[in-house]
Amino acid sequence: MELSIPNLPPLDVRLVAEDQLDTTDHRAIQNLLMAAFPQYTEIFNQVSYWGARPSYRLWIATQNGEILAHLDFECRQIMVDHKALWIAGVGEVATHPRFHRHGLGRALMHQFHSTLLSMSIPFGYLQCRPAVIDFYARVGWHLLTQTASYIDPDTNQLATYQGPSLVLPACATLNQWPTGIIDLKGMPW
Ligand SMILES: CC(C)(COP(=O)(O)OP(=O)(O)OC[C@H]1O[C@@H](n2cnc3c(N)ncnc32)[C@H](O)[C@@H]1OP(=O)(O)O)[C@@H](O)C(=O)NCCC(=O)NCCS
Repeated sequence: MELSIPNLPPLDVRLVAEDQLDTTDHRAIQNLLMAAFPQYTEIFNQVSYWGARPSYRLWIATQNGEILAHLDFECRQIMVDHKALWIAGVGEVATHPRFHRHGLGRALMHQFHSTLLSMSIPFGYLQCRPAVIDFYARVGWHLLTQTASYIDPDTNQLATYQGPSLVLPACATLNQWPTGIIDLKGMPW
């Protein structure tokens, strides 16, 4: 799908299933992630995700294929306060540093919300650094105060996360998100 953002060249939005990515796609995603997360260059020079393997990629690219903004997600049934709940767990949210504050992150989240509606997924869920909470809040996400248990990708052990996590209501409303402990039933994204 074509996308037009003021002061940027013509752009394409793509939703791609993980098993449809080729090596050129992975390298283009890795290039973006290395630029956006220079502290994790060693990881993203090897792989295009960290933690749970995503099922889908959503990205915005120039017409010559440079990926300027990207996120990935996996649809998973988790437990919150012992209630089963479908979410799309989101990772690797990034805009290329050359294009920060041009509206690419907002456009990406708008597309992600539409994607969740079309897939009948009630909520998006993600964990983030405190420094970017305000970005997510501005593009429709809500900060949670619940702790989450998950499998630590570095140790394969059960661990508890108490940092910021956020939820994006899609086919559900915010007041349908349960209170209580979140069990991610696997690795985070
Ligand atoms: C966070 C990030 C994805 C934002 O992308 P972006 O394309 O610059 O965002 P946009 O230009 O669409 O901004 C959308 C809104 O959020 C605001 N915003 C953007 N970055 C922000 C930040 N770091 N803190 C607070 N607000 C921010 C913008 O001002 C804008 O607000 P407005 O439209 O209401 O005026 C980008 O800074 C990035 O890739 N950072 C490095 C990687 C990273 O930390 N990713 C998140 C991992 S959890």
